[in-house]
Amino acid sequence: MMSQERAPAAANESRRERSRQIQRMFGRIVGRYDRMNRLISLGMDGGWRRLAADAASPEGMRVLDLGSGTGDMARALVRRGGRVVGADFSPPMLGVAARRYKRDGRYAWACADGHHLPFADGSFERVTNAFLLRNLVDLPAAFREMARVLRPGGRLVCLDMTQPPPGVFAALYRLYFNRIMPVIAGVLSGDRAAYRYLPASLAGFPDAETLSRMLRDAGFRDVSYRRLGGGAVALHRAER
Ligand SMILES: C[S@@+](CC[C@H](N)C(=O)[O-])C[C@H]1O[C@@H](n2cnc3c(N)ncnc32)[C@H](O)[C@@H]1O
Repeated sequence: MMSQERAPAAANESRRERSRQIQRMFGRIVGRYDRMNRLISLGMDGGWRRLAADAASPEGMRVLDLGSGTGDMARALVRRGGRVVGADFSPPMLGVAARRYKRDGRYAWACADGHHLPFADGSFERVTNAFLLRNLVDLPAAFREMARVLRPGGRLVCLDMTQPPPGVFAALYRLYFNRIMPVIAGVLSGDRAAYRYLPASLAGFPDAETLSRMLRDAGFRDVSYRRLGGGAVALHRAER
């Protein structure tokens, strides 16, 4: 039987291994990532990011966009006047973003894990993330890190998929997202495992209410959210 000290160590190691697998997966799909996003979201993902960028009110603010991927969210924030550090733990994803949006006064790029951010307390006035949360293996720890790097009075905006409220749309959505999309996206991308991972990452993910509670537990206040995409996407906003 495992000793009491070894059980948490084993759980941590298993989380680290899961995180490494996720990191490798994003490195693999980078070349097709943007095209597959448009396809999977039926062309709606850009509009959702723009709404998230509006909710962040980034004008004149130092913004950390966590899990920045190929830089779509950072671009929406810069277009609204933000000075953005895009941080991601996947070097291939960061490489695409940094080639597209050269480091200048508006864009900077950093290789960083959301669970251990290499930034001082209170470094940013805004923290944003789009479609990152489902990939985090320790959500409470990551929320605490987001709170730590935000200065008091700063704002967090999170955009991610969520389970839609029960009803006809939810049933149709589940059919699309769990059955049809993984097959089509798997064939078109040539990476079936990556697009089986997508519905799996939502299956164990907290619902929008639970996420709000977790944000409060991490030290955020005035937590609110709205649903987009027929209820299949949640946009959370919280103040530090
Ligand atoms: C689904 S993509 C979203 C990318 C981008 N935000 C967008 O809207 O297209 C998730 C991104 O989060 C990154 N990511 C996942 N887990 C992470 C972690 N623990 N720390 C930092 N980045 C992470 C992945 O490498 C990937 O680029």
